[in-house]
Amino acid sequence: MDEFVVTPWEVRGRVDYQKLLHHFGAKPLTPAELSLVEKYAGEVHPLLKRGFFYAHRDFDLLLKWHGESRPWALYTGRGPSGPVHIGHMVPWILLKWLSDKFGVEVYFQMTDDEKFFDDPEMELAKATGWAYENALDVIALGFTPDKLHIIIDTKDVEPLYPIAVKVAKKITWNTAKATFGFSDSTNIGLIFYPSLQIAVAFLPTELRGETTPVLIPCAIDQDPYFRLARDVADVLGYPKPATLYSKFIMSLTGESKMSASNPDSAIYTTDSEKVVKRKIYNAFTGGRPTAEEQRKYGGDPEICPIFHYHMLFDPDDGAVERVKSDCKSGTLLCGECKAALFEKVREFLTRHREMREKVAGRVDEYRLGAKLQ
Ligand code: TRP
Repeated sequence: MDEFVVTPWEVRGRVDYQKLLHHFGAKPLTPAELSLVEKYAGEVHPLLKRGFFYAHRDFDLLLKWHGESRPWALYTGRGPSGPVHIGHMVPWILLKWLSDKFGVEVYFQMTDDEKFFDDPEMELAKATGWAYENALDVIALGFTPDKLHIIIDTKDVEPLYPIAVKVAKKITWNTAKATFGFSDSTNIGLIFYPSLQIAVAFLPTELRGETTPVLIPCAIDQDPYFRLARDVADVLGYPKPATLYSKFIMSLTGESKMSASNPDSAIYTTDSEKVVKRKIYNAFTGGRPTAEEQRKYGGDPEICPIFHYHMLFDPDDGAVERVKSDCKSGTLLCGECKAALFEKVREFLTRHREMREKVAGRVDEYRLGAKLQ
């Protein structure tokens, strides 16, 4: 069974990331781009080095642009449909690092409108509420209001709307259908929505009054939006956005992506320590059914969500390599490996929750709409 489906609204099956790259037409991230990152940032973040971010469009051009001391901005977003899990946090950790290392501002879009359109059960006030809640998880990474601009679509649409209508006029129903798989029964909100997600890519240029391309770090399923954004950029007089694509975070149950419909497949930033522990200890692994077999044959870290998380959360390259080789050789058993991971995740979550509490109630200081008033 090597069938898989990846769209902005659905990820199914075991994802072949190389095939997907080929299908979308983005480029693999190579040592050439990483050495440019090292040149300007002084180091390469583990999430780049370890291939979690693995593909891009024009990331090399953007780095060259940076080398010429020209302005650019970072842009990413989230569809606020419920609590944030630590899989969502991973790309945002890289986002914060990029913002710090390159000294650039971040535009963060909370698409309460998209989630309202997409989910028949979702109430608009609920989605907007989640936008505020989720914003705390972003701010808690340590952003200051001068570096992070949060856009909640139904609250902060004013600067976006004139750009969105220009974008919408350039995209035909035919193109939208082919790009997103819309059908005759898709509501027209969802059909217009891509122009808003694309508009943010052009917003920094409008706000600054000079060419200011964006770099968009995000999961590869968002590529359809930005392929279209790049198609319409020229004719609208905006710079083409650059993108940096990650793989998906493996679900604790072993699927390619965590799913909101199975709460045990992911660790939420709001889960208690007890719950986190239970989820990690119950997780699927690449290990053998018995300790004896594990010692004899070793495990398979490639398919193991526990190893995947060590890779994402441990900055120490040596330690991650050790987990991998000790798993393969059978010296490391799943129980010990899970205990070690629980410690790492607990540490991350403890710090995160402290920060989150500190910034509670302060989302408006970061909202673009409130700043522009
Ligand atoms: N559509 C995205 C989602 O459902 C949210 C989003 C808006 C986004 N703008 C973005 C994601 C830019 C990545 C980059 O999650």
